[in-house]
Amino acid sequence: MDRQVVVVENTAALSIKGAELIAQHARKAIAERGRFVLALAGGSTVKAAYQLLAHADGIDWKRVSVFWGDERFVDQENPYSNYRLGRSALLDRAIIPARNIYAVDVTSPTPAEGAARYETTIREVVGGDGVPVFDLIQLGMGPDGHTASLFPNSSALTSQSLVAANHAGLAPWVDRVTFTLPLINAARTVLILAGGENKSAHIQQAIEGENADIASLPVAGVRPENGELIWVIDKAAAGELTATS
Ligand code: 6PG
Repeated sequence: MDRQVVVVENTAALSIKGAELIAQHARKAIAERGRFVLALAGGSTVKAAYQLLAHADGIDWKRVSVFWGDERFVDQENPYSNYRLGRSALLDRAIIPARNIYAVDVTSPTPAEGAARYETTIREVVGGDGVPVFDLIQLGMGPDGHTASLFPNSSALTSQSLVAANHAGLAPWVDRVTFTLPLINAARTVLILAGGENKSAHIQQAIEGENADIASLPVAGVRPENGELIWVIDKAAAGELTATS
């Protein structure tokens, strides 16, 4: 695993850098393989990055396929919906064909069924013999050290499925559907955008901690074996950490 830690000045710089990195990887993937398979995150940090990404130069959006690394199991018009966030921040601004947008089916009878259906879709669309390989999975990190909807000590953390249902470990207290670590760690690139003093301890522990306990710090389990992990954090979160190449 290649790992980079990029430290930027503040939240605004986090969004700018995040959008730049996603755009760079999109252009490269499309040039090399003819498509860019991307998984979006939810939460507030990523919204501005997606709005900037929508206006990035040189991306052939017809060749971009969009998934969500996790979803709240609510209607797509619900303010809690990550699909709604991605739709308003990115998909309504960039011209991505509707056939390239793959949302969790939140009309499934249960979150578990929704997870199973999503895993089937991912295997069909992303393809490959083993675990499907995303070009880039973008993640955030919550103040409790969760990522996607992999909350501390939650059942999805030990699931052998690629997509699992999970109960919320933080507000909004709604059921979730989430990528699991095996799927995340198969990606070519995982990009984590996180900032703020309140996340500093967990971020530093995840980046520097040797053998951090994944059950209590799920984001520490993000280790794309054959890929690259890029942390983009702001100075408030970095504390004494220095950027690493
Ligand atoms: C979700 C997100 C979640 C998010 C982090 C960070 O569904 O809630 O996918 O993993 O990325 O909680 O959220 P903030 O950027 O709002 O702190």
